[in-house]
Amino acid sequence: MSGRKVPVRHTPEGQPNNLDAMDSTPVFRDKPVSFVRRSGRMSEAQDRAWAELSPFYLLPVERAAATTSVKAGTAIDPAEVYGRTARLVVEIGSGQGHQIVSAAAADSDSDFLAVEVFTAGLARTMLDADREGVKNLRLVEANAPEALEHLLPPASVDELWVFFPDPWHKNKHTKRRLVAPDFARIAAQALRPGGTLRLATDWQDYADQMRDVLDAAPGFERAFAGEWAERFDGRVLTAFERKGLRVGRDIRDLSYTRVSP
Ligand SMILES: C[S@@+](CC[C@H](N)C(=O)[O-])C[C@H]1O[C@@H](n2cnc3c(N)ncnc32)[C@H](O)[C@@H]1O
Repeated sequence: MSGRKVPVRHTPEGQPNNLDAMDSTPVFRDKPVSFVRRSGRMSEAQDRAWAELSPFYLLPVERAAATTSVKAGTAIDPAEVYGRTARLVVEIGSGQGHQIVSAAAADSDSDFLAVEVFTAGLARTMLDADREGVKNLRLVEANAPEALEHLLPPASVDELWVFFPDPWHKNKHTKRRLVAPDFARIAAQALRPGGTLRLATDWQDYADQMRDVLDAAPGFERAFAGEWAERFDGRVLTAFERKGLRVGRDIRDLSYTRVSP
């Protein structure tokens, strides 16, 4: 053995694919992604939603190598997308869309963007948004850090929400967690100075990691006194939170202000 470390390569969706160094498979991403794409069969209604509603709700994305990637240099102009200039709120990992549809319906003066890779969840979000008559919402099917970095212009986001991100609770998987120093850098780039990053989790170890990462991140300052933030009153109870509560977990909220470094 030479002792040389063989690089871990990742498949198009960022799953580890421990090929040896001689393999010529192209490396699509240089780090693991925070999701495993569920095949999640679509119902007939979801199929129909995709066909009928995606021209309005789903933003077209130019891809790099992976199917959920975003090509560098393809930033949108929010004013053009929404047909006006307004506060922009972005939710990462919007799941079935309960939070973002409810928020968009309640605040027609702001614009909302849901970033998710779970297609059945995106379809459900479009169906609910359509049923509620919500017009100030758009969806992006993409890996969130790439959407923040390449699709959104710097300093274009007023609020960024990360509610109940996958906890990746096994030690060997924690490197897949979304909220890590590189995410903090990308989030700081997307948020305007004075903007807010809100997070919530039911996994204590991840809550501790979020707070450590963001306390240390240039460009962020705690927007809460005491150990944790108050529950954000604009946050609805989703199935994930309900599940955490049912098994007796504490729900941790955090909020940070984007400050000039
Ligand atoms: C545990 S679920 C929570 C969903 C929702 N926020 C809620 O509270 O009900 C996490 C969601 O984040 C999505 N997700 C994870 N990593 C992502 C990434 N890098 N980009 C986009 N979506 C991601 C997953 O597909 C999943 O739907």
